[in-house]
Amino acid sequence: MKFYRHFSFAFLWVLIGGSETFLLSKGGITSTFIRNEEKSLDMPLESDVFRIPSGYNAPQQVHITQGDHVGKAVIVSWVTEDEPGSSTVLYWRHNSSNKQTANGKVSTYTYYNYTSGYIHHCTIHNLEFNTKYYYKVGIGNTTRTFWLMIPPKVGPNVPYTFGIIGDLGQTFDSNRTLSNYEMNPVKGETVLFLGDLSYADEYPFHDNARWDTWGRFVERSVAYQPWIWTSGNHELDYEPKIGETKLFKPFLNRYHVPFKASKSTQPLWYSIKRASAYIIILSSYSAYGKSTPQYKWVRKELRKVNRSETPWLIVLMHSPWYNSNNAHFMEGETMRVVFEPFFVQSKVDIVFAGHVHAYERSERVSNIAYNIVNGRCTPVKDQSAPVYITIGDGGNIQGLASNFTEPQPAYSAFREASFGHATLEIMNQTHAFYAWHRNGDEYSVQADSLWLYNRYWYPMDDSTAKS
Ligand SMILES: *[C@@H]1O[C@H](CO)[C@@H](O)[C@H](O)[C@H]1NC(C)=O
Ligand SMILES: *[C@@H]1O[C@H](CO)[C@@H](O)[C@H](O)[C@H]1NC(C)=O
Ligand SMILES: *[C@@H]1O[C@H](CO)[C@@H](O)[C@H](O)[C@H]1NC(C)=O
Ligand SMILES: *[C@@H]1O[C@H](CO)[C@@H](O)[C@H](O)[C@H]1NC(C)=O
Ligand SMILES: *[C@@H]1O[C@H](CO)[C@@H](O)[C@H](O)[C@H]1NC(C)=O
Ligand SMILES: *[C@@H]1O[C@H](CO)[C@@H](O)[C@H](O)[C@H]1NC(C)=O
Ligand SMILES: *[C@@H]1O[C@H](CO)[C@@H](O)[C@H](O)[C@H]1NC(C)=O
Ligand SMILES: [Fe+2]
Repeated sequence: MKFYRHFSFAFLWVLIGGSETFLLSKGGITSTFIRNEEKSLDMPLESDVFRIPSGYNAPQQVHITQGDHVGKAVIVSWVTEDEPGSSTVLYWRHNSSNKQTANGKVSTYTYYNYTSGYIHHCTIHNLEFNTKYYYKVGIGNTTRTFWLMIPPKVGPNVPYTFGIIGDLGQTFDSNRTLSNYEMNPVKGETVLFLGDLSYADEYPFHDNARWDTWGRFVERSVAYQPWIWTSGNHELDYEPKIGETKLFKPFLNRYHVPFKASKSTQPLWYSIKRASAYIIILSSYSAYGKSTPQYKWVRKELRKVNRSETPWLIVLMHSPWYNSNNAHFMEGETMRVVFEPFFVQSKVDIVFAGHVHAYERSERVSNIAYNIVNGRCTPVKDQSAPVYITIGDGGNIQGLASNFTEPQPAYSAFREASFGHATLEIMNQTHAFYAWHRNGDEYSVQADSLWLYNRYWYPMDDSTAKS
């Protein structure tokens, strides 16, 4: 039965996909689609996407993220290069000329011999749900105006669409991923970003000017819709030989998140509610063992989630727990051992991770029975467990991770080494449609998709390869 299903699926794909084939194994599907295995180069400094906006002290690298726990506040951030200028944001409702102001703060940082521009962060509070606002930055010098949408009020039956991007970097492939996300007819309203932003640390002395180019590159999306930030290993920027030992320094100076709103003590782990989703962001590169601040916070946080209010429980982290790629193999294991029992107990719906530069989706499995002496160390199907999705395939300079372990383990439902992005369309309390969109040269192709059933309200088997 299982064989027949895979066989007909593969046959269908050969018909429509031409050159693609799937390898059959004990596990799920390994797609052998290959578009281009060449490493992509970073876009040169003079590229259109890095253009500096014209005008004296013009705001650049404008980006927004959620600014409170429920979505009524926005953090607006930008950089000015000539002088500090003003940290005030002017904003108004789309249908009103009544302009209001919010005041922020400006700061700079140094990294080895690099000094940042003037980095502004301003939180606008108490906006109205489900409303479009315009906002203006650069007051007093060159101004620039953008717009944003405040999401609907948090509630159980609020449809909402997330985009999911990881490990983006700033290559020609990164630009393709972002363009495909923007052009996707499934209109993402907020991006869940899974860590590894600029890859500036790949340059000598971690040339932080590449943080600035990255900020200018992604502005065309993140100035208009919030990106929810997760930190990755390329945010660590730990380089003792040039005297840089403060972890996450450039990232934390440039990207603020509303961590205090979820009673977190560090910006690296926090939570937000947005529409019908409760989203928990974890740090793979901060301590998480028993009694650490992150551990204590996660335990409390999972108990706080009220599925009558936010049916969908989603966790973001950088390093995946279920990864059958030889790249970064087993790196997520120590965190899995610590947190997985709580995730299963809390019926987390989905865990998104990045780090591995390929795509992989798991079945609903858990591996929590093992206790050192009982020998039960194989992941088993578990309808209370999340689906684990690795989507570290934004398109960065390090290229694709195309060396998967063989044979494909039973828990791995689908894996492919291609760049792309994903979308998650939450329809209501019980149903969400998830899809992964592989990059093509001109547009993206939906290459993996499934209906996800809510673990709390509708815990039916939603696996794609039932056996
Ligand atoms: C502006 O639109 C909002 C809904 O977005 C509505 O509640 C409000 O009454 C409108 N105000 C004016 C002045 O038209
Ligand atoms: C920083 O130092 C490196 C190595 O000495 C040099 O190549 C680079 O141009 C310097 N950058 C700045 C901004 O001074
Ligand atoms: C730029 O804006 C700041 C803040 O409003 C103001 O103090 C400064 O004078 C302006 N600079 C110029 C050259 O207009
Ligand atoms: C990046 O993508 C945008 C939108 O598709 C395009 O206009 C731009 O020319 C691209 N830039 C580079 C350097 O590839
Ligand atoms: C959970 O959320 C529902 C719906 O918003 C609310 O009626 C209920 O009081 C909440 N329960 C708790 C324990 O806060
Ligand atoms: C794939 O990874 C394995 C394990 O790290 C390694 O032994 C093997 O040489 C790799 N294969 C290729 C083609 O790189
Ligand atoms: C939830 O959405 C799914 C998919 O659109 C639909 O089939 C189902 O009937 C909806 N449930 C309710 C209660 O509306
Ligand atoms: Fe990474």
